[in-house]
Amino acid sequence: MGRPRRGRKHLIALVGLPARGKTFTARKLAGYLGWLGYPTQVFNVGERRRTLLGPGQQHEFFDPANRDAAEQRRRLAEAALDDAMGFLRGTGRVAIFDATNTTRERRDVIRARCDAEDCDLLFVEIVNQEPAVIEANVRETKLSSPDYAGIAEADALRDFRARIAHYESVYETLSEDEGAWLRIVDRGRRVDIHEVYGWIPGRIVGFLTNLQVTRRPVWLTRHGQSAWNVLGRIGGDSELSPAGREYAQHLASYVRRSFGPSSDLDVWTSTLRRTRETAAALGIEPGQWKALDEIHAGVCDGLTYAQIERNMPAEFAARKRDKFHYRYPRGESYQDVVQRVDRVIIELERYRTPVLVICHRAVARALYAYFLQLPPAEAPHLPMPLHTVIRLTPTAYGCEEERVPLEPRVAD
Ligand code: F6P
Repeated sequence: MGRPRRGRKHLIALVGLPARGKTFTARKLAGYLGWLGYPTQVFNVGERRRTLLGPGQQHEFFDPANRDAAEQRRRLAEAALDDAMGFLRGTGRVAIFDATNTTRERRDVIRARCDAEDCDLLFVEIVNQEPAVIEANVRETKLSSPDYAGIAEADALRDFRARIAHYESVYETLSEDEGAWLRIVDRGRRVDIHEVYGWIPGRIVGFLTNLQVTRRPVWLTRHGQSAWNVLGRIGGDSELSPAGREYAQHLASYVRRSFGPSSDLDVWTSTLRRTRETAAALGIEPGQWKALDEIHAGVCDGLTYAQIERNMPAEFAARKRDKFHYRYPRGESYQDVVQRVDRVIIELERYRTPVLVICHRAVARALYAYFLQLPPAEAPHLPMPLHTVIRLTPTAYGCEEERVPLEPRVAD
């Protein structure tokens, strides 16, 4: 292995049969890496096929014995790979090549391109032999695809199964001499990691080995109004105000109404008083996370925004210019917050039960930006009012949001 070089570009190439969750994985991974601050884009060959050839190819198009179609598919894959390489030559840091890549021949082409363009290659193979999971995936994501618009469900299912069988007939799993790869078997029941080195590949392994396909909501709220919120002072570790204590009661009844008495809900707070006091009425022992503590305002801790503007105008202006990268002297930036909240995200992705996270304005923005896949620079400006529960429900390829304002209403 050579000396590590900074700023390496990465191509992540998915490998696997249709309906194994490659697109779900590619999109989640792109969202995660983008959120960490690495410009990332997915290049999907199926979408390119539908754009160029129109939707509606039947299974015969995917038959390896169908030479014309095989040539067309090869060209489509190469064109998507060209785009991915173009992205990496420009501002991109990580390109995710979302295609089946099930033959050695196809993967050798990808490797040759990466070698020629001096970028790192990591294969991520998704193997699944559980019929119920494959069936659910086909029903959820494939039958609604434009490929099957207007086709009876039973016919679409039959055709898609035949498509899978064509790929199975030529499928070669990754082998020892194919460099860096990660193989996830049966939704993480087994994970094989082969020759994976480096910071970004390490983050990818950590993320993908914890990613669950089980979808359950995450509930997000700031703590109830604190004594320092009333005074407009930032940071600190003050107790709840009377209105904040009232919110804690309303939150507890809302949680009881939503989950019932025998719920498997987990509650996470920061280590600061105002979040722990908000959780107290729930009757569920919360997990406390230092990583969920509010952005550390350093020398500005305890001041109001007006005081900062008056006493440290240069700092105030610098933060206004670039709120995401601005770091309080002896404190943190939003970028720092994202880096530490990363471990909370990994844990949230690993969990199979619902979780209520009671945290702070900047941290809630960072978490929310991850789930909604928003550009990092938007996070510091997101509205995150007090006394509001945000219910985030992941869908097949995105996330739905519901905001529930609770009493008492207070100004921010
Ligand atoms: O005012 C409440 C608060 O949580 C402060 O403790 C924190 O510094 C601030 O909000 C974060 O919001 P912003 O990044 O918009 O200043």
